Amino acid sequence: MLLDILVYPDPRLKTVCEPIKEVTPELRQLVKDMFETMYDASGVGLAAPQIGQFIRMLVMDPQSNKEVKAPRVLINPELELYGEDIKSKAEGCLSVPLQYRADVIRKNHVHLKARDLDWNMIEEDLEGYPAIIVQHEFDHLNGILFIDHIMSVKRALFDGKVRRWQKRHQ
Ligand code: NI
Repeated sequence: MLLDILVYPDPRLKTVCEPIKEVTPELRQLVKDMFETMYDASGVGLAAPQIGQFIRMLVMDPQSNKEVKAPRVLINPELELYGEDIKSKAEGCLSVPLQYRADVIRKNHVHLKARDLDWNMIEEDLEGYPAIIVQHEFDHLNGILFIDHIMSVKRALFDGKVRRWQKRHQ
């Protein structure tokens, strides 16, 4: 089932999400629906709060647009960022309107700990593109969007565009 994605400036996107205590059939169904929604929108990641579930879970697939998929579910993820700064090239988000994209300074390496859908502990190091995606999705769990990382002048211009866009559509 395709789920509705919350769009900025929806204030619910600022919610700090709650840890998950156990995997339920409902959670498994939610994960399935989130993957369907993410692939349908040609996204590489989707966090639970984006579809109005304020729990610490995200799905991602750096190979979303390729033939061989690499879907991942991360429950209660914890990140340790390290290594050099890199610029994400034209980062975007399914919750940010007008197909807005911007470069964001991210870390090139992430040490990740999380649970999977069988409640196994995952622990691994990610580098480059997957590391950028997980930083972006993890931010969502703390109510942060990539546009919160860009320069204030650029942000003000974007917010102006969003206000004009909202006026046209109300
Ligand atoms: Ni996003």
